[in-house]
Amino acid sequence: MAFLIASSSRAEEFAAFARDLDPALDVRVAPNLGKAEEIEYALAWQPPNGLLETLPNLRLIVSVGAGVDALLADPDLPHVPMVRFVDADLTGRMTEYVALHVLYHHRRMSEFGELQRRKVWKYLPEPAAHEVRVGLMGLGVLGSAATRALGVFGYQMRGWSRSPKSLPGVACYSGAGELDAFLAETDILAVLLPLTPDTHGILDRRLLAKLSRRGRDARLPGPVLINAGRGGLQVDADILASLEAGELYAASLDVFEAEPLPHSSPLWSHPRVVVTPHNAAESAPAAIVRYALRQMAALRRGEPLENVVDRKRGY
Ligand code: NDP
Ligand code: OXD
Repeated sequence: MAFLIASSSRAEEFAAFARDLDPALDVRVAPNLGKAEEIEYALAWQPPNGLLETLPNLRLIVSVGAGVDALLADPDLPHVPMVRFVDADLTGRMTEYVALHVLYHHRRMSEFGELQRRKVWKYLPEPAAHEVRVGLMGLGVLGSAATRALGVFGYQMRGWSRSPKSLPGVACYSGAGELDAFLAETDILAVLLPLTPDTHGILDRRLLAKLSRRGRDARLPGPVLINAGRGGLQVDADILASLEAGELYAASLDVFEAEPLPHSSPLWSHPRVVVTPHNAAESAPAAIVRYALRQMAALRRGEPLENVVDRKRGY
């Protein structure tokens, strides 16, 4: 019985933790598979298409990420159970990211940064948190945790998901039919959706134009987008066009259509865009490996797996 690490990043770190936590475990790091038929478990992040298919006795795939779009894009992905990473370490980091960027834009930090660079001492009007409506697209593990954290500041919370939800302190909307109503009620939009055929390119100019613009009594200068879901959810050029047209005031983007973000992208230098390198929630390798070993042990004991991916749904 062997455990394969097939990860485009931090593979050796994962292997070291696995050997540490279970010295008896036969840990291998792709592309050095050894005897492929001995591999029963794989911890995977963006493995080359077709690699997992070459393992005839594979019983379980553990996704390093919470998002499994890259794994599901492999046309030869074997039909064995796949679990995605869900853990307090990941949830805590993402909650910090969303709270940080909501507060950053609510408190107009990009403008204060610009004023500081020009050595200008100037007040800008800032609404109280209870006057600002924050909408979460995606109310799963990460989105619902973000609503709880932001609720503590007193923001008016809204959320949108595929199926109807009921979350304390959150006005919940669901499905395509309620999307426009959700957007019309949102000043700061934070996106924690998975990338699926249904959500691909959803953050386009048409959608951004539907965000709330309260007109002359608006207390934020305009709508704000925070995307920490997946780059494939957004159309980079539309975000820029919306910013230029004043339909969108500012954005924090952790994910992009192409990663790393090409040097030529105007997003890098836009004064009201914060760019982060897909690090909103870069989980500790130890937490990921511990999670994988727990799932493997559950499978061996015939116990239920956690967070099994529904391939038909795509997340
Ligand atoms: P979950 O599966 O727990 O939640 C997904 C949410 O999205 C659910 O509320 C789901 O609705 C909703 N959703 C899915 N499809 C649609 C749709 N077509 N229309 C409306 N709502 C939809 O995922 P997590 O919260 O764990 O993670 C969310 C995403 O965050 C991941 O898929 C990944 O892409 C991204 N991520 C990014 C990271 C980063 O560092 N930038 C780190 C970790 C994750 P329902 O509740 O009805 O199922
Ligand atoms: C994830 C990610 O999906 O880090 O976990 O993007």
